[in-house]
Order: sequence, then structure tokens, then C-alpha cells
Amino acid sequence: DRPQIYDNHGRPIQYLRLAVTDRCNLRCFYCMPEEGIAYLPKKQLLTYEEMLRITSVLAGLGVRKVRITGGEPFVRHQLPNFLYQLADIEGIDEIAITTNGVLTQKYIPDLKKIGVKTINLSLDSLDRQRFYEITRRDEFPKVEACLYELLDAGFEVKLNAVVMEGRNIEDLIPLARLTEKYPVSVRFIEEMPFNGEGSHYPTLHWTYRRILEHLQTEFPDIQKQIDPLNSTAYHYQIPGFLGSIGIIAAFSRTFCGTCNRIRMTAQGTLKTCLYDDGVLNVRDLIRSGISDEALQQEFIRVFQKRPKDGYEAENNRQSLVHESMTTIGG
Ligand code: GTP
Ligand code: 5AD
Ligand code: SF4
Repeated sequence: DRPQIYDNHGRPIQYLRLAVTDRCNLRCFYCMPEEGIAYLPKKQLLTYEEMLRITSVLAGLGVRKVRITGGEPFVRHQLPNFLYQLADIEGIDEIAITTNGVLTQKYIPDLKKIGVKTINLSLDSLDRQRFYEITRRDEFPKVEACLYELLDAGFEVKLNAVVMEGRNIEDLIPLARLTEKYPVSVRFIEEMPFNGEGSHYPTLHWTYRRILEHLQTEFPDIQKQIDPLNSTAYHYQIPGFLGSIGIIAAFSRTFCGTCNRIRMTAQGTLKTCLYDDGVLNVRDLIRSGISDEALQQEFIRVFQKRPKDGYEAENNRQSLVHESMTTIGG
């Protein structure tokens, strides 16, 4: 009996990806240039109060799940405080976080209390030197410690590894092997053209197919599992192993047909597709005094113009220069 809004292609909008900051304490080369990106002045970012209000209005339209993204969420001050309040919003029954794990460990008890169940941890390599070369920071020990503590604490952990020619191919098998002893979901992601360095597309060397074939050489009996509805990943399992393996065709975008997600950027722009330019400046509407009812109407209006898939969104973009993933939160 809950309200549920559908888009112009009949897809329910249930999942909000909320970027709480554009800042990050790593410099992953596929996401940001070495010198970082020009961070926004604080005034241009949504306040926590504004985020709570936006989330309640969206919850009134049927959003049930919020994933906290960034930048790196934990570089924003007082994040746990905010999450306690977010969890109290009526209609929101799941809060998830995507984090790089550098600052996360000390907040694990808070996350438990808040009721966060799943954490997506970005980790592209199990080798300290390769980790450094990918992220340009020597933080591997902290992230590794965070991974094991999250597992100990009973979180459902999804480990995200972007697959990059010449960078971490040696890591694919060791990462997959983590699923032998740990109930972790290791997900291999096609690299997307979001490195903040301009408009040219890299060639995609490691497609979903090729990643799968690579895994099959080491684990010939790897088995396809059933994919949950609205999942970005193709699910697999190696018989006898505790965890599971996912492959995310992020660049091939094979999952648009069931896409139930929208995004709020840190500066308060609503995106109805990862590949659109932003369709509504929610921050300015709020700061000019819009009522909840009117804001709800604005949301309903833009949900009726949602692109069918990432290709359509991309064709309709104003700017062709690809931004950094850190400003859109994945
Ligand atoms: P859950 O299903 O809630 O676990 O989330 P997720 O797997 O979508 O989230 P996560 O933040 O872990 O992102 C994993 C990868 O999927 C990242 O590389 C994202 O950029 C990519 N991804 C997430 N949503 C989309 C999308 O709408 N389109 C595309 N092309 N890629 C996406
Ligand atoms: N291509 C694919 N995945 C990316 N991520 C960040 N940048 C890219 C990219 N260019 C992933 C991160 C994180 C998730 C939110 O998005 O590894 O796990
Ligand atoms: Fe930071 Fe994530 Fe971008 Fe790496 S991918 S620089 S961890 S925002």
C-alpha cells in the first residue's frame, strides 16, 4: 500500500544513490587526474538537512533504498550522525554505502547500530605496490584491515574491482580466490570513461565476456547463478566456495532495462541516468523556497522523461566532456 512512482518506461524508481561529497582521499587514475579535480566550495554542496529533506520527498514517491556514495563518503564530517537521521526517514528500509575503506574502519560500530547491512568496498588490487600505482596513495594496509573487520562484523561485503589492462590483471584470480574462505561477493567491473580527463573513450580491453573467460581458465567449473532483479552484476559461484563472484558490464550497460535508480550529486543535481548531464537542480529549488509538494511534482515531471538507456542519455548530453566519477558517485 506504499506509493510507487514509475518512469516513462514502466520502471519503478526505488533506489537513490546519494553522493555526500565530491572529495576523495585517493586518486584512482581511472577516476581522477593526479592533481585531483577542482572541488566545489562548501556552500555549493547540499547540507545534510537538505539531503534529508530530498530523501523524504523521494521516499514519499516510493524510493526505499539509499546508497551513500561520493567521492569518498567518510571524508565528509559527521557522516554517521547524518546516517542515523537518514535511517529514521519513513519509507527508507535500506541504507548501503560504497566506500574506499581508508577511513571506514573506526565507524564500523556506528554502521552496525545504524542498521547498515551492506558495504561495497572498492579494492582493485591485493598487492600493495599495484594498489599504490592505481590509487596514487599508499593506503592498502588500511583498506585490507577494513575488509577483514567488515567481514568479522558480519556485514554483507561486495568488493568492487575495476578491471584494467596493464594494471591489475594479475589480481583477478587472487581476488576471486577470496571467495573460497570468505562470504564476500567479489565483483569485476568493466572500466567506464569517467576519469575526469576529457572526452576520448579508452578502448575497452576487458569486456564482461573476456573477464569471464579469464576466470574460467583458473576455475573451469565456475557456475552461473540467478541474478536478482535490478542487479548490475552477472552472478557466478565457484562450487564449494563460501562467497560469490559478480561481473558488472558497466560500460556495455546491459542492465538499463530494469534500472530502478536515480542519483543526487553532491551539489544537488538530480540525474535520472548515470550518463545524463543532470536533469534538475534540486539545490536551487530548495534554496529558493519550494514546498515539498511542488518539489514532488518536479520529480514526477522529470521521471516521465527518463532515457531508456545510457546510450540515449549520452546522445542527449549537452557536454561531451566526461566528468570525474567522484562528482557523480558511480
Ligand atoms: P548495489 O546493487 O546496490 O550493490 O549497487 P551497485 O553495484 O550498483 O553499486 P556500486 O556503487 O558498488 O557500483 C558498482 C559499479 O557499477 C560501479 O562501477 C558503478 O559505476 C557501476 N554502476 C552503478 N550504477 C550504474 C548505472 O546505472 N549504469 C552504469 N553503466 N553503471 C553503473
Ligand atoms: N569505471 C568503472 N568503475 C568505476 N568506479 C569509479 N570509476 C570508475 C570507472 N571509470 C567504481 C569504483 C567504485 C564504484 C562506485 O565505481 O571502483 O567502486
Ligand atoms: Fe576516490 Fe572512488 Fe574516485 Fe578512487 S574511484 S579516486 S576511491 S572517488
